[in-house]
Amino acid sequence: MSKLWGGRFTKKTDQLVEEYTASITFDKELAEEDIQGSLAHVTMLGKCGILPQDDVDTIKEGLHRVLNRIRRGEHEFIVADEDIHMSIEKALIEDIGPVGGKLHTGRSRNDQVATDMHLYLRKRVVEFVGLLAKLQSALIGQAKQHTDTILPGYTHLQRAQPILFAHHLMAYVSMFQRDIERLQDSYKRINTLPLGAGALAGTTFPIDRHFVAEQLGFERVYTNSLDAVSDRDFIIEFLSHASILMMHLSRFSEELILWSSTEFGFIELDDAFCTGSSIMPQKKNPDVPELVRGKTGRVYGNLMGLLTVLKSLPLAYNKDMQEDKEGMFDTVRTLQGALQLFAPMIETMKVNVGRMRQAVNTDFSNATDIADYLANKGMPFRQAHEVIGKIVLYSIQNNKFLLDLTMEEFTQFSKLFEEDIYEVLQPESVVNARNVFGGTAKNQVLDAIAAAEAEIGRT
Ligand code: ARG
Repeated sequence: MSKLWGGRFTKKTDQLVEEYTASITFDKELAEEDIQGSLAHVTMLGKCGILPQDDVDTIKEGLHRVLNRIRRGEHEFIVADEDIHMSIEKALIEDIGPVGGKLHTGRSRNDQVATDMHLYLRKRVVEFVGLLAKLQSALIGQAKQHTDTILPGYTHLQRAQPILFAHHLMAYVSMFQRDIERLQDSYKRINTLPLGAGALAGTTFPIDRHFVAEQLGFERVYTNSLDAVSDRDFIIEFLSHASILMMHLSRFSEELILWSSTEFGFIELDDAFCTGSSIMPQKKNPDVPELVRGKTGRVYGNLMGLLTVLKSLPLAYNKDMQEDKEGMFDTVRTLQGALQLFAPMIETMKVNVGRMRQAVNTDFSNATDIADYLANKGMPFRQAHEVIGKIVLYSIQNNKFLLDLTMEEFTQFSKLFEEDIYEVLQPESVVNARNVFGGTAKNQVLDAIAAAEAEIGRT
């Protein structure tokens, strides 16, 4: 069969051009969405009296048969058909005869492909919100088991102040919550129907775009036909949100990798999520978080790629826009892989409570608390900071930690010190002293866990 657009041409397409311009090798992923859109379109053509109901029924039956053949793997995707839209239309015409050619009435591939992409991303957003909620549940599960586990919190990767491990995990729950909210917010723009814009200017047929929107579950219809076919903001938005999400996962990955090192020894990832070395028998490498960290690069790349494709592109459709697909599919697959692995990896992670405790017992992360102690007794905080700085220096020079100092040693630095300083400096006291909303005190963390669980119940 010749090209669906062959009428105006006298020569065959150059073989290399055909291969160069075709998108079927990757846009075949949109087959289900393409048929879903066509079914709604042709139903509308019938309802509006543009096509006789007999033709509509024949076309719908044909489309269902084509869909089933695609699902069974019996449909041939060939480069000569150029893209998924023409591949399906051709298959339909082969199946039901020339009446199949009526499907494209009042429609262009420009509004068709945009519709397919909206349908595709709409499904993905729902899927990713679900995967993120699962990851949050895994984090909350671990957090609940570690509301008494204390480790040093870091700034500049230097020990700063002790915190609950649960508090650290809950920070990621908050980050992923923002990812969920960003995706949910983008949903209303994704859930807008471009179909009916025609090639760029609308169509001469008396179509009903709102009826199509209703059938496909779109909340809104694009209000400008040029915008409808040239808008790829919704994909760029998805790629941006995906980039921020991968950035979060890469930060978490980095911490998991550090914590698994012998130097930290804070956690051990389950064997199922690690691999060995072909030469060094002792190795257990945290490949999964390493790869997630690494794959963040391609997700950023896909965002920059599409931003650049769209840069300076005149309205309305340009073939450049066919370049919107591969990066998007790649980002979807990369995110699916990372999120599917992360939840079970966190669930099965072993936490070395003893190592964390040992770290807190052998550092100066309780120093802020003696400064606060003196400030509470009336010494200006700046001066207290100076005094404690001297105590820390003295301790380092004498190979001691703050809890090792005698009362005599303390009072040499300030007469304000009393016996209760030993209680104040205990890691539990230090943690529980941060009893402000959002702080690391145990009761605050328990509240945060309860609030997050309620939030997940709502997503
Ligand atoms: N394969 C094309 C794409 O993905 C479909 C739209 C083609 N439209 C056109 N006027 N050539 O962008």
